[in-house]
Amino acid sequence: MATILITGCAGFIGSHLTEKFLKNGHQVVGIDNFDPFYDRSVKEQNMASFINNDDFRFLEVDLADSEVLLNCLKGIQIDAIVHLAGKAGVRPSIEDPQGYIRANIVATQNILVLMKEQGIRKLAFASSSSVYGNTKETPFNEIQDVSNPISPYAFTKKACELLNYTYHSLHKLDIVNMRFFTVFGPRQRPDLAIHKFTKLILNDRAIILM
Ligand SMILES: NC(=O)c1ccc[n+]([C@@H]2O[C@H](COP(=O)([O-])OP(=O)(O)OC[C@H]3O[C@@H](n4cnc5c(N)ncnc54)[C@H](O)[C@@H]3O)[C@@H](O)[C@H]2O)c1
Repeated sequence: MATILITGCAGFIGSHLTEKFLKNGHQVVGIDNFDPFYDRSVKEQNMASFINNDDFRFLEVDLADSEVLLNCLKGIQIDAIVHLAGKAGVRPSIEDPQGYIRANIVATQNILVLMKEQGIRKLAFASSSSVYGNTKETPFNEIQDVSNPISPYAFTKKACELLNYTYHSLHKLDIVNMRFFTVFGPRQRPDLAIHKFTKLILNDRAIILM
């Protein structure tokens, strides 16, 4: 069985993935810094089912702090990384581009340095459909040109894809960039439309216009 590092393990997708790996008999090291994008209490609740699991180790660490990241993982054998941590959301990124550059680009750069330093070969990275911007070419595919991002969020995700490619090319790291579209289900991020609509319907506050 493998030891997987999951970044963003307190988030929506990360908490589900952590549960899945633990259920399949793997060990998980989870990193999250409880970014204030939404409530810490929601994220603690996301981790409730596994925080006390003997095969899970939690590190509350900001990935943008390279020294702390390298130190906290010293001596832990990691077989693969799923890097989900980051600041999500298109509109908030327009207000806070610096924050997105730090949480997305700097953090990813630090993950790549960690891989190189500790000989970790495999990385799956959470990119986004937002890299397609206003492209008119449909259906979207993996080889079309995505060099015209229309938000700082999209720019940071595209930049991370390029960083990953560079490390793959230079150091032969095995990396996959996954471009998620809207992911939904229990524990979905509170800023997303499906979460908001469902909450309004459940609270009888939805107005049906006919
Ligand atoms: N949910 C979607 O529909 C969707 C779509 C496209 C891409 N994505 C990407 O997938 C990933 C996971 O999305 P999610 O919906 O689960 O988001 P989420 O906000 O629920 O989870 C992300 C987690 O990363 C943590 N984090 C942020 N910055 C960090 C840092 N510097 N150090 C350590 N932890 C940090 C946050 O505290 C949070 O718990 C994100 O990178 C997001 O951009 C998600």
